[in-house]
Parts: sequence; C-alpha cells; structure tokens
Amino acid sequence: MRNAFLIRPILVLVFTIVVFDAFAEKQNCIRPCEVWPDENDNHIQAHGGGIIKIKNTYYWYGEQRGKGLDPQYRYVSCYSSDDLTNWKFRGNVVKMLPPDSLTSGWVLERPKVFYNAGTHKYVMYFHLDDRGYSLAQVGVAVCDKPDGEFKFVKRFRPLGHESRDIGQFIDDDGTAYLVFEDRPFGFRIARLSKDYMDVEKEMSLIPDHMEGGAIVQYKGLYYSIGSALTGWRANPNKYSTSPSLEGPWTEFKDIAPVETNTYGSQSTMLIKVTGTKKTTVIFMGDIWKPKTQWDSRYLWMPLEIGDGKLRLPEPKPWKLNLKTGETTLMLSDSLKKSVLEAYFADIVFIGGSDSVINRNVKKIVKL
Ligand code: GAL
Repeated sequence: MRNAFLIRPILVLVFTIVVFDAFAEKQNCIRPCEVWPDENDNHIQAHGGGIIKIKNTYYWYGEQRGKGLDPQYRYVSCYSSDDLTNWKFRGNVVKMLPPDSLTSGWVLERPKVFYNAGTHKYVMYFHLDDRGYSLAQVGVAVCDKPDGEFKFVKRFRPLGHESRDIGQFIDDDGTAYLVFEDRPFGFRIARLSKDYMDVEKEMSLIPDHMEGGAIVQYKGLYYSIGSALTGWRANPNKYSTSPSLEGPWTEFKDIAPVETNTYGSQSTMLIKVTGTKKTTVIFMGDIWKPKTQWDSRYLWMPLEIGDGKLRLPEPKPWKLNLKTGETTLMLSDSLKKSVLEAYFADIVFIGGSDSVINRNVKKIVKL
C-alpha cells in the first residue's frame, strides 16, 4: 500500500520527463538576431565567442553574460553541437577570480579555444585587461577536456605588443593563429608555438585599426574581417584579402551596406563548412546589448564569398546542411520588424534618439 503511494508520483515524474523530452523542440534553422535557445531552452550565452570542431562535434566557447552571476568572477561558457544549429550547454569552463594583482572590474573577453593534437590539451586564449583596458594582454588557460575546468596558466602581451580583441584562425593544414588588435599599430596575425602555449611568429601587421578580427581561407585566398573601434556600438565591418597570411593585404572594403552598420552586429569569427557539394563560410557576429548583456544576440549568416569578394547578406532565418555544405534561406520567414526593433533597442539610444545610427535603424526597419 505504502509502495503504491510512492510509485504513483514516481511514474508521473517519469512520464513528465519522457513527454517533456519528446517535445524538447529541435531547431530546424538558424535565426539570426533572435533569442537562440539551447537544449534547455535558455538563450545561448557565448558572446564574443569562438568555435572548434573535434571529430564530429562543434564546441562553442564564449563570454558567459547570463543573469545572476557572481560579479567577482568572470565566466566562459561551453556549448556543443553536431549540426551548428542545436546547442547543448556543457557548463561554464572558466569561473575565475582576478588573477595576480588585478582588481575588481577586470576584463575577460573573447575566449578562443584551440585543441593541440600533439599535447592533447585544450588551450584557451582570452583578452585579459584591467578596468581601464590599459593592460592589453592575453590570458592563457588549459584543460585536458573540451568541457572541463580550464586552469589559468599565464598572461602576457603577445610578441610584446598590446592586444585587446582577439580572434582565432586554424588553417586547413592545422596551423593555429591568433589575430589581435594592437592599438598603436593595427591588426596583427601571429602563429602560435607548437604546443600553442605561446605566440611565436608574426605573419602580418595590417596597419588598419580593426577589432573583432577573424580570418578564413577560401579557395586558396585569405579573407580577414574586422570592425571599427566603437566599443559595443555596431559599425560597418570590413574585409581585406591576401594570397598569403604574410600579405600583401588589399584595402579594407565594406561587407554590408554601410547604413546597416553590419545589421547591428560585430564580427567574432568566420567558420568554414566543407560539404560534399559546397563550401560555406559562416559569418558569426554578436549583436551586443550593453545594458542587458544577457540578452545580447547573434547574427550568423552564410556569406557570399569568392574571387576576392565577400558580402554579408541581409539577415534571414536559414538552414544548413552540414553534409553537403549547402544552405537554404527561409524566404517566407524573413526577419520580423518587432525583432529588429528589439535587437536595435539598446544601440538606438546610445547616440541619442536622432543619432545617425538611429536614423539608419529607422531606414532598415522602415519605421
Ligand atoms: C568592443 C570589443 C568588445 C568589448 C567592448 C567593450 O570594442 O569588441 O569585445 O571589449 O568593446 O566596450
């Protein structure tokens, strides 16, 4: 009798879990600018992020800016996926107090993880700074697993240079590079050491002041991309090309109509998906919401790329076929005006209600 009493609620619980699981909605497309729910239905917190692929699994690392975090710590999140569309939260792989002499208000931004096949270590680089952004260093943390606790190892200025926003690039031959913004001089690309624990060799210094740096190699040509230095306010992102990482690089050109300010986003990475029919390059951008950081969104779109040209199309929901590399735009389901208004809400007010940005936004959403 007593057992029957217990069995019933247990059965109800099991039934609820099974039903809930069966209904946990799989996403069939990527919806730029919208809330992006992970498998637990929480908006993905992986801002200023980077992605690596290990066997058939993608790992996405980024700034954890969720609500209710302990402000003493800085957090890096990790998500995994086998289709780049549905993401599972694997936990916060960094929860860090200020290292060494740093004090509250310190900065940990734009984490990027590289897997070193020689040492079997996951090596994370991030922008490490003090409150006033004057330290301009990288921090390095290491782990034996993609989703374990990364242990802080050291901090330094790569090759002795100032380094604020960083980006990662892994070439087809597996060589790993760091892109970093050196405020006095420009946009630097440097190769990591064999064990990835150091920044070893400068490949290029592009004397343009760009941040949110990212690189992709597409059909033998290198494309670098970056934003202007306007903090979390969006600006027209630009690209340049070169036959070699050592240059010469072409002049930077706009990736989208200037008045859209990159559709409100800032570059963080370019991902190449090589399928059986097509190679697709995905622009991975952040739509920052400085006042409600946990609600910052993502703008991922397949780029129009080739023959030295690169264009970010207007954001629309789209599907990726990871096997063939093909993408499909969901034309019938274009970006809703309410979504556009929502994601521009913060940005609009920064420059005042009649700022250039605000006027551009009005043009885009045709208010
Ligand atoms: C941006 C940068 C971000 C963050 C932000 C803070 O320029 O790309 O990573 O540092 O400034 O204002």
